[in-house]
Amino acid sequence: MNAKIRTYQPDEEQVLYDICLLTGDSGNDATGQYLDPRLLGEVYVGPYLRFPAALALVGTDEDGVAGYVLGVQDTVAFERWCEREWWPSLRSRYPLGAFPPESADERIVRLIHSPPTAPPDVVERYPAHLHIDLLPRLQGQGDGRRLLTALLDDLAAIGVPGIHLGVARANERAIGFYRRMGFTEVQSFAHSLVMARLLMH
Ligand SMILES: CC(C)(COP(=O)(O)OP(=O)(O)OC[C@H]1O[C@@H](n2cnc3c(N)ncnc32)[C@H](O)[C@@H]1OP(=O)(O)O)[C@@H](O)C(=O)NCCC(=O)NCCS
Repeated sequence: MNAKIRTYQPDEEQVLYDICLLTGDSGNDATGQYLDPRLLGEVYVGPYLRFPAALALVGTDEDGVAGYVLGVQDTVAFERWCEREWWPSLRSRYPLGAFPPESADERIVRLIHSPPTAPPDVVERYPAHLHIDLLPRLQGQGDGRRLLTALLDDLAAIGVPGIHLGVARANERAIGFYRRMGFTEVQSFAHSLVMARLLMH
């Protein structure tokens, strides 16, 4: 049976943080890698649930929420909002050096203190960006396509011209999925790619 797709409800934050961690190692479970199980979600989920203009959709099955897609139409506005409203309290809660230097946690802490910003030439053409994660029980049955299509349709309906995303090179499955969904590589780094596509109007 297909997952049901609907808007995120405010009491579902914890399950989205859990899904983020359970898929956080290039699509695989990252639970064993982090001392603090909330850190990944604080970067890749939390701000999307608070930013006023974000779109947050979830996929549910008989056992509850099992996947999400999170998107913002204006990445530059989102980054400015995070700098004002999201990062300051996290920086106090997680000072640099809070975790051992080579730990996965400390890599995320460094990111919280110096978040990368999307390249100007990418956001000019593809101003929106997204994150999508499904638990294994939802994967491979068309629900990723349905969730992503729902987000792309919503963004196209409000006139957004294009969207981009970041993906780890190690996540070959997701790269194949994004290609199939019409995304192409627009920037390439040692460990990650930026992929993007235009939206139809
Ligand atoms: C990546 C992910 C979102 C894809 O969702 P999914 O539900 O598994 O994918 P779907 O079943 O909806 O596949 C949609 C289409 O993509 C195709 N596809 C999926 N993976 C593919 C791959 N690796 N290579 C080529 N095509 C692929 C499917 O065949 C399908 O094609 P069709 O609809 O034309 O028949 C999901 O597997 C997931 O959440 N993985 C773990 C978390 C993750 O890696 N997130 C991305 C982080 S950047």
